[in-house]
Amino acid sequence: MTQHSRAKYQPSGKLQFGIFFQGVNSGTIWKAAESGSQTDFESFRRIAQTAERGLFAAFFLGEGLRLREHLGRPHELDVAGRPDAQAMLAALAAVTSNIGLVATQNTTYNDPADLAHRLSSLDLLSGGRAAWNIVTTDNAWTGANFRRGGYLDHADRYTHAEAFVETAKRIWDSHDPEAGQWRRVVHNGKHYTVDVTPRLRRSAQYRPVLFQAGDSPEGRNFAARQADVIFSAHPKLDDALDFRRDIVERTLNAGRGANDVKIMPASEFILAATPEEARDKKAWVRSLQIGPQQAIAYLEQFWGRELGSYDPDGPLPEIDPMVEETSETRGSGFHGAKARQLADQWRAEAQEKGLSIRQFVSAKTSRVDATFTGSYAEVADRLVDYARTGAVDGFNISPWLIPTGLDDLVNHLVPALQERGVYPTEYAGSTLRENLGLAAPERPGADVAAESARTESAPSKSAPSGSRV
Ligand SMILES: Cc1cc2nc3c(=O)[nH]c(=O)nc-3n(C[C@H](O)[C@H](O)[C@H](O)COP(=O)(O)O)c2cc1C
Repeated sequence: MTQHSRAKYQPSGKLQFGIFFQGVNSGTIWKAAESGSQTDFESFRRIAQTAERGLFAAFFLGEGLRLREHLGRPHELDVAGRPDAQAMLAALAAVTSNIGLVATQNTTYNDPADLAHRLSSLDLLSGGRAAWNIVTTDNAWTGANFRRGGYLDHADRYTHAEAFVETAKRIWDSHDPEAGQWRRVVHNGKHYTVDVTPRLRRSAQYRPVLFQAGDSPEGRNFAARQADVIFSAHPKLDDALDFRRDIVERTLNAGRGANDVKIMPASEFILAATPEEARDKKAWVRSLQIGPQQAIAYLEQFWGRELGSYDPDGPLPEIDPMVEETSETRGSGFHGAKARQLADQWRAEAQEKGLSIRQFVSAKTSRVDATFTGSYAEVADRLVDYARTGAVDGFNISPWLIPTGLDDLVNHLVPALQERGVYPTEYAGSTLRENLGLAAPERPGADVAAESARTESAPSKSAPSGSRV
């Protein structure tokens, strides 16, 4: 890469799509007659094959390690109630040929040697299509699910994650194909120790592609140092451009090239042949996403009490929340908010705008910035601006219906984008790295060991130094 291209970000002018198959959320319609299931393989197979027909780069699964609770009962469709991501992706590898397979996996509760082995397995089984979305879950209710208990402070989560990822990379890099040998990998640090001689050969794409999702400054720096792709929360054009600038700066500061980290924000598409039809479809989609039961259940998360006696088409409950200080142990709805204050604010807002419970919840949960609504041509034109300005490298799309929610996008939006020259007309290669346009990882040497020593305490003297990678 030239000095110039390292220092200045250059838009590729192209977009890629990924599909984000969700679990608990207010974005997927799980209760309609045509809804699939989050446990039956058929739903996964059908939508993954549709995405592949549309030349999607990646099929993406989130992860939860403990069922979230709602009023003491498990959330019906929690992602933790879905088959394990890597098992599901291995099954999908057998019925697809080109699409990348992204497993979200947590650095706080996994162990690096074990996870590196499982991800290598998926990468080998899929012919070089695996990716790891690195997350660093920080909540106590997940921590309570593990023998060691507890969880890490925010700052510690990323130093831990860094040592974890560096160790995984050393494990993947330890195979010397010419010599047909593996080097032993030793790490003896603050958070864990590893002494392993890996046993899987490199995949067709060398090692799994690394995604990252986490938006704090520490999370962004971590991505700038380690990730190939960021699954971002910044889909709106001006916000996406700011995010790109921020990530390019951090990536350059980390000593990498300006184009080295791809960005794919979370998004939703509601499309039709004409703008009017798309508007009507959006109203229909929203009414199904937030039905009467979902609207009440959503408020119950914040009130901490049963609200089943309230009319979903009436005003917000006048009764106060049961909980005072909201707690992270109950699930994401509770992160950090003060329930009573929030309830007062929401009642005032709903009254001022004349919104019923259902209308209010629908407005609160619809991801306005992340939703692209319009005719195929209109939306294709909007997306051209993203490609031209280089705001993003593509979109990670959450279908509002599983398994048929991508059909119209693949049948109509993809050809419209191809006509405009911003979407691939074939897969660039057989590996995810090739299809995302990522360079092969540089072969690290002894500096990798030095990097581990930088992020964790120095390796112990008793470790056999001659065998360190
Ligand atoms: C778009 C996006 C998707 C995420 N998906 C998951 C997930 O599937 N599982 C998970 O445990 N955490 C997920 N996270 C949480 C992050 O890993 C991280 O724990 C959280 O954002 C807090 O880190 P931060 O302070 O750096 O943002 C996601 C975050 C973002 C922004």
